[in-house]
Amino acid sequence: MINNIIQQQIEYYRARASEYDEWFYRQGRYDRGEEFNARWFNEVDIVKSALLNKGKVNEILELASGTGIWTQELLTIGNKITAIDASQEVIEINRHKLNTRNVEYRQIDLFTWEPDAEYDLVFFSFWLSHVPPESIDIFLEKVYKSTRVGGQVFIIDSQFEPTSTAKNHTLKADGNIYITRKLNDGQEYQIVKVFYQPEQLQDKLIQAGFQPNVKVTDNYFIYATATKR
Ligand SMILES: C[S@@+](CC[C@H](N)C(=O)[O-])C[C@H]1O[C@@H](n2cnc3c(N)ncnc32)[C@H](O)[C@@H]1O
Repeated sequence: MINNIIQQQIEYYRARASEYDEWFYRQGRYDRGEEFNARWFNEVDIVKSALLNKGKVNEILELASGTGIWTQELLTIGNKITAIDASQEVIEINRHKLNTRNVEYRQIDLFTWEPDAEYDLVFFSFWLSHVPPESIDIFLEKVYKSTRVGGQVFIIDSQFEPTSTAKNHTLKADGNIYITRKLNDGQEYQIVKVFYQPEQLQDKLIQAGFQPNVKVTDNYFIYATATKR
């Protein structure tokens, strides 16, 4: 079952590539009105400032890099970015948007990925929540391997907040991590979505060998910096 869901997740993001940004920019089905949108963007600014305050680094690894929403921020602090995603469709959008030689794209399934280099910063946004719990330790081990000693990891993800998703998605507080997502045309996919509490994420990062600092914004985001000593 889990392999099927992992495959569906890949297919979901491939099919969603051209409409993906509507979520982040609060358009179409994700437009929750002025007040909620303002909340969202204020919280995005808090997380963005925390990232940019890291200052300049040389090499960054971005996992599940998507359409470039965060790759474009990473470009302002890193000299070179290696961006991994399973979907060629989102990679092409990212490449076209950023149009830079400073990003090297690799199409890789992160569940079969084997780290082959160390980076000053390893970054992933809205990815950890899609890693099934049985795969999280192995995934974080690989992240640890990819971080140089003295380097850092920066993670951004979702808090459980029903207004973060599309108006025609129902977010139930029943703890079920297998959820249904719809495209604009109504096509449905099953994906994994795990909402971490700060203490849980903190424990996972300590277990992987990092020194973490986990924070949340008022409603929408959980974010963490973790250092490899
Ligand atoms: C929620 S999006 C996050 C994208 C980007 N990090 C952002 O914040 O906008 C999840 C991303 O994970 C990618 N993805 C899904 N399954 C994957 C897998 N098995 N290996 C690598 N990337 C995967 C999708 O193509 C998509 O770009």
